[in-house]
Amino acid sequence: MASNGSTNGAAAPAVNGRAYPITDHTFDVVIVGGGGAGLRATVGCSQAGLRTACITKVFPTRSHTVAAQGGVAASLGNMGEDNWRWHMYDTVKGSDWLGDQDAIEYLVRNAPAAVYELEHWGVPFSRTEDGKIYQRPFGGMTTDYGRGPPAQRTCAAADRTGHAMLHTLYGEALRNSTEFFIEYFAIDLIMEDGRCRGVVAIKLDDGTIHRFRSHLTMLATGGYGRAYFSATSAHTCTGDGGGMVLRAGLPLQDMEFVQFHPTGIYGAGCLITEGARGEGGYLTNSEGERFMERYAPSAKDLASRDVVSRSMTVEIREGRGVGKGKDHIFLHLDHLDPKILAERLPGISESAKIFAGVDVTKEPIPVLPTVHYNMGGIPTNYHGEVLTKVGGDPDAVVPGLMALGEAACVSVHGANRLGSNSLIDLVVFGRAAGLRAAEIVTPGEKHAELPTHSAELALSRLDRFRYADGSIPTADLRLDMQKTMQTNCAVFRTGEVLEEGKKLIHEVWGRAKDVRVTDRSLVWNSDLIETLEFDNLIVQAVVTMDSAVNRTESRGAHAREDYPDRNDKEWMKHTLTWVDDLAKSVTIDYRPVHTYTMTNEVQYIEPKARVY
Ligand code: FUM
Repeated sequence: MASNGSTNGAAAPAVNGRAYPITDHTFDVVIVGGGGAGLRATVGCSQAGLRTACITKVFPTRSHTVAAQGGVAASLGNMGEDNWRWHMYDTVKGSDWLGDQDAIEYLVRNAPAAVYELEHWGVPFSRTEDGKIYQRPFGGMTTDYGRGPPAQRTCAAADRTGHAMLHTLYGEALRNSTEFFIEYFAIDLIMEDGRCRGVVAIKLDDGTIHRFRSHLTMLATGGYGRAYFSATSAHTCTGDGGGMVLRAGLPLQDMEFVQFHPTGIYGAGCLITEGARGEGGYLTNSEGERFMERYAPSAKDLASRDVVSRSMTVEIREGRGVGKGKDHIFLHLDHLDPKILAERLPGISESAKIFAGVDVTKEPIPVLPTVHYNMGGIPTNYHGEVLTKVGGDPDAVVPGLMALGEAACVSVHGANRLGSNSLIDLVVFGRAAGLRAAEIVTPGEKHAELPTHSAELALSRLDRFRYADGSIPTADLRLDMQKTMQTNCAVFRTGEVLEEGKKLIHEVWGRAKDVRVTDRSLVWNSDLIETLEFDNLIVQAVVTMDSAVNRTESRGAHAREDYPDRNDKEWMKHTLTWVDDLAKSVTIDYRPVHTYTMTNEVQYIEPKARVY
């Protein structure tokens, strides 16, 4: 046994006559993903005395959390009265009543402590005059159950909050002796009789295969934004955890709900934080009109993201877009004090200069709604345990498997996430997963032997793509998928456009059998890894489209023009989707929304019309 708990070349299974020597590792907990959620969970598990490994395909501080800008929501009340019940009300309303209210209560109640913990670990939050954490307004965040003025609830480190959090969390994980496996790509889960026993990964720089045996495997692999052509997500956001879960025969949940952020830079797609509007920025059309006053008379530019994105799309459709093609909208910051811009929005001022050639102190930024976040993902409870539907039990726990962060669907965001509720989700549920792990795993607990064929699924998948000699390069299939999703599963949807999208995306899925990979090596083979990533993306694109066709109502980010109203009677339920990759078929079923709270210290928030 080597010092890192590994044994070398323990076995060399052959696939199609080719040997793949395996290095074995044994841990109490293995966490896949080194972003905010993964790192917070590694800290918790390590602190609980559990031997913890974090496997990540990029260096941890390059995970997509680094790109989060505007802030992390918690009702600290530093800038005016606030409390967690108001935060809960806003989150339930933002979710368009698809969020599970027990989980939402867990999130908002634990949010302030999670932010103070980050502060104590060293996150360099911006400060008020009297030294408290600075908080800015964000869309959909209100006071007094929507009756009062906007809440200043979003705790910010200028407009680089994710960057600050990620670097601090990585330092904390190192301080707690987590073992990192950096630039390892997870290929597949090891499942035995419905229990997860670990994961198989490839080390990218030398092509060696690694089998991680663990009592608990946590997927913190992020979203699948790159199923779309234009996204604020990093190119690494390929939904690797969701792909593994589908291949394990488990469902994904609420995949039809894809968030478009109102202000991606036109053309480039880079994020311009909602914090820009929080600091006083506003949107105009070609007539110079602040059109949000018509769509959301009370919250205006700080209405919830789905509402703002739809309003912008209507303006463009009705001929009031700006620019030569009248195909985008202007975001103004040029009326704000340049000192405030330099202090609170330095990052987006630089992005606007680089990607749009705009000096924000003088000119508006050209923006367009851009894919930003997946509300759907791997179903979990608020402890992070993965759920599936077994017989009559819609909340059956999958032993040995947890999911966190954007990869998961807890579901606290329901049909639409509020800005800055993502960073808080990462740390609250990352912490919850660590606490759960400490309850259910004893440090050093003996492992059962793995089944003989434990690496077979992963290795046969790897070998199949490594030697794929079809006629279509991965890049062509990926582009077809991205264009189809962008065109046919957009801000507004109709049955006709979605049905066409379903046909087109299933065609791409079918043609994927004919993929061609040209590089046969295992060392830094980006052709092969991008193909494995595409394979993860395409199944999630398919279930997104199929779920969108299936849901015949409008709710949150899912806006059906042929079914414009929310229909609580028939559709207040979570969609579950399974795929059969061989038969190329999708199965759809449902789970009830949790219409109860976690404690009796707050009441269930009854559905009502959602206006801002
Ligand atoms: O606009 C932003 O800064 C993004 C924040 C978020 O998605 O939570």
